[in-house]
Amino acid sequence: MVTNHNIFAISSDGEQNNVNVASTWGDSPMYRFDKSFEENAALGPSFDGPFPHVPKVPQKSLLGLAVNSRFGVAAGPGINSKWLSTYSKLGFDILTYKTVRLYERIAHPVPNFAFIDPHSNVYEDDSTANTLAAPTLPLDVAPTGGSIGMPSLPPEFWQRDIEVTKHALLDGQVLIASIVGTTQPGMAQSDFVQEFETLAQMVVDAGADIVEANLSCPNVNVAEGAVYKDLALSRDIALAVRRGARGRPVLLKVGHLGHSLDGFLRTVAGAADGVVMMNALARKVEDPDGRPYFGASRHMAGVHGGAIYQLSLDAVKKATQLIRAEQLDLRIIGVGGASTPERAAAFVEAGADAALVASSALVLPFMACALKAQRPDV
Ligand SMILES: Cc1cc2nc3c(=O)[nH]c(=O)nc-3n(C[C@H](O)[C@H](O)[C@H](O)COP(=O)(O)O)c2cc1C
Repeated sequence: MVTNHNIFAISSDGEQNNVNVASTWGDSPMYRFDKSFEENAALGPSFDGPFPHVPKVPQKSLLGLAVNSRFGVAAGPGINSKWLSTYSKLGFDILTYKTVRLYERIAHPVPNFAFIDPHSNVYEDDSTANTLAAPTLPLDVAPTGGSIGMPSLPPEFWQRDIEVTKHALLDGQVLIASIVGTTQPGMAQSDFVQEFETLAQMVVDAGADIVEANLSCPNVNVAEGAVYKDLALSRDIALAVRRGARGRPVLLKVGHLGHSLDGFLRTVAGAADGVVMMNALARKVEDPDGRPYFGASRHMAGVHGGAIYQLSLDAVKKATQLIRAEQLDLRIIGVGGASTPERAAAFVEAGADAALVASSALVLPFMACALKAQRPDV
């Protein structure tokens, strides 16, 4: 599957740069799908350049911070400073450092990604299987499934590396650090909450501009992956992160809230500054013979990319309407298939403060340039 991307980047001095890039899932993505997550982390992105000229756009604001555009990478592709400094040079302005823990944790083995048949039952429920298929849609809108787990290097590594990342950012770019507490057998809930406060303090000390608490991960089989379904616990975590973040904005990352959306927003308003919605959908992913594609213990995987765009956009619309109607003290950041200029702009037009992209950023390096060339207002 080959997708051609023509990017016409017009610089502030009127110079036009044409970048014509052929991206394939197999040959030239930034993420090496045949290698482990740890190898991808160590090697950095597979991007040989040349770096395109990033169109200059008018500055905007995100949570009181100056940003060039309200577009960037969600937690995931920003594996470490090598990855984030590359996205920064490619014009992504909101850069999320992938979720870190207090304890080292390795990722699930390869395979970690697959294309999902666009005719699958992604919107049904989590008991329905979604099958694999060769991509039949352009890469920027193709549905994908992923199973990585929530790996983390130890704090000694990521504290220094967040610092390195922060120094690599350009003017008008901000760094979000995503954190998660690690559940242990018999752990008291108060200790789990306290871990978020400790982590928030550590990432702020390392230089994060914004702290994001990950309350959702579709492919870890433990309670820490579905904290957002517990409204009181979500609020306690928001308040703990607020204490640790010492004045930096606090975001909560959630999964698909469905009917609990309104209740969640009312509960966390005032405790957190914003909600990042949404994480991948937890769904069964199978090969065409009905076998769990990622292995029996990883039947449920995260479905992301084009498959969840409409669901995510609808949720963002509902959230921003409620916030306006009830004058809640809360911002929304849209995530979910925001991989084309039109889709990213739709999130902002729906009232989101920003749009972020994850899975497609592993494959398509020039999305931010395309957005800036087409929609300098975003
Ligand atoms: C490779 C990869 C790793 C991810 N890791 C995290 C993570 O560590 N923390 C998190 O909150 N979300 C993580 N996500 C979820 C994304 O942030 C995002 O919510 C989801 O993929 C939907 O966005 P998309 O359709 O643009 O991929 C990850 C996604 C991908 C593709």
